[in-house]
Amino acid sequence: MYEVYGIIGYPVGHSLSPVMHNLAFKTLNIKAVYGAFEVKPSDLEKAIKGIKALGIKGVSVTIPHKEEVIKFLDEIEEKALEIGAVNTILNENGKLKGFNTDWIGFLKALEEEKVELRNKKVVIVGAGGSSKAILYAVKKGGAKEVEIYNRTYNKALNLARKFSVKAKPWEELKDAYGDLIIQTTSVGLNSWESPVDEKVLSRFKVAFDLVYFPLKTRFLSLAENSGCKIIDGLKMLLYQGVEQFQIWTKREPPINLMREVLYKEVLRVE
Ligand code: ATR
Repeated sequence: MYEVYGIIGYPVGHSLSPVMHNLAFKTLNIKAVYGAFEVKPSDLEKAIKGIKALGIKGVSVTIPHKEEVIKFLDEIEEKALEIGAVNTILNENGKLKGFNTDWIGFLKALEEEKVELRNKKVVIVGAGGSSKAILYAVKKGGAKEVEIYNRTYNKALNLARKFSVKAKPWEELKDAYGDLIIQTTSVGLNSWESPVDEKVLSRFKVAFDLVYFPLKTRFLSLAENSGCKIIDGLKMLLYQGVEQFQIWTKREPPINLMREVLYKEVLRVE
């Protein structure tokens, strides 16, 4: 019998997780399939009950459910609780356990690019759901100073308090400087916009964009023009997926094949 895995989100049609995980299952000869399930926020509780009822083995959780899902699970690992978001569910004999692998995905992407966080000044743009895992990761990585800028200042303030970093008003982004700048907003997703201009980017050494549609966003193009090393969001997607796969199957996935299929797929869709 085939085991069933999947991703829940809304919308979820654009997700690249199915191609990545299905390739890994196939390569390792694991009898499993991974699908995409579009779940409206009002249906989240029913969907989670459905995981148990249908015996679905593992689930990826994406926008907008990562925070809400916590209250419907049986157990949450310590780190996911600290972050306040779950992106991975494991069904262990009918017990649903929540994990967060986004922060590891981010750190592994930096590691691959040989970017150090220790004693660095880090600027985070955006205070939405995905910036929580980033904040957790940069703190864990030993950044010396972390600033968070968000259009809605109160959200930056809340996150800054939670993670003991500095909140900054959106208007002051034009004066920002540091070593690493991380773009976590949805600006630039399927559009040619950047929340940060070239002059600001020229004051950084490394620019990371969580958005990967298009692969080279306007933010990354401007950053590259101004001399930054650039890191695209697909690397984080890859490594958070690698960690998920290990949690679900306890096996080592074929990382290079997964990477290849992700880049091929994103360039095909773009
Ligand atoms: P995600 O889970 O992807 O982080 P989210 O929680 O909806 O999604 O957060 C989206 C982020 O993009 C927020 O930081 C949001 O800013 P607000 O908190 O002010 O809403 C930011 N964002 C979205 N559109 C934006 C825009 N046009 N300009 C600046 N920031 C924007």
